[in-house]
Amino acid sequence: MKISVIGAGNVGATCANVIAHNNFANEVVLLDIKEGIAEGKALDMWETSPINSYSTRTIGVTNDYTATAGSAVTIITSGIPRRPGMSRDDLIGTNAGIVKSVTEQVVKHSPDTIIIVVANPLDVMTYCAYLTSGLDSSKVFGMAGILDTARYRSFLAMELGVSPRDIQAVLMGGHGDTMVPLPRYTTVAGIPITELVGKERLDAIIQRTKKGGGELVKLMGTSAWYAPGAAAAQMAETIVKNERRIFPCCTWLTGEYGLSDIYLGVPVILGSNGIEKIIELDLNAEEKADLNTSAEAVRGVMKVLDDMNAAV
Ligand code: LAC
Repeated sequence: MKISVIGAGNVGATCANVIAHNNFANEVVLLDIKEGIAEGKALDMWETSPINSYSTRTIGVTNDYTATAGSAVTIITSGIPRRPGMSRDDLIGTNAGIVKSVTEQVVKHSPDTIIIVVANPLDVMTYCAYLTSGLDSSKVFGMAGILDTARYRSFLAMELGVSPRDIQAVLMGGHGDTMVPLPRYTTVAGIPITELVGKERLDAIIQRTKKGGGELVKLMGTSAWYAPGAAAAQMAETIVKNERRIFPCCTWLTGEYGLSDIYLGVPVILGSNGIEKIIELDLNAEEKADLNTSAEAVRGVMKVLDDMNAAV
């Protein structure tokens, strides 16, 4: 069983490395347009296999999509990352063209693949891949919720001095500053978070979560890769093993949460068919209003893509 990762930059290489490390695929193909980079990184990874005791074969190629043929899952990380002062939405002009041409090649060689999009602006690049691929929406979705939830959970773990493993949370909405962490659905080993963290501290952690990607762009001058790469790998693992785990994923909505014709982060069951089920929570009025605000922000960027597509 083969998984392909398109783009051998920081996120793509990290993702391929985590997939190999977790030893659930026979083969990971890493593809990049820059001559030699994917080959080099994949070979370097393969050379860790005796040390890390895994069998997943990592193979790198320069723009040769025939090597990706028959992939069960394809992860699209291609595109330029954010630089300081840029929002994720500023990337659309460049990344839409890249995601479109990558998706065409991907489905040409793997017509039955499941596509996980990681490129930014995430929700709209997922929409772009969906429009281009012709695949059912259950097979095209985006990675953001696991990353954003992981940031939220890791901040809460620091606050409480407990293991992040025991912190469970739901976070919905777009992958941007309007994302919606949900304290009412956040627990620590089953204990509601509101019993352990005061409102003021919780609000501060929610604000930090919303700007979590930007915090790292400021520190490093480019966007993050360890957590984004690991999050995409976790989605692939769940799909390949048909684990039916519940994660927030950027998903095509057809009436759920009162929203239609939009890609937005909502909790879903992930399995071998991709999105097996969208879970609808009974949000209160404030949570619903926050989700609608996030949906409006995403729709604004979707419109930019629609206008670009109409112009060609
Ligand atoms: C982030 C980028 C990958 O949130 O969107 O770090």
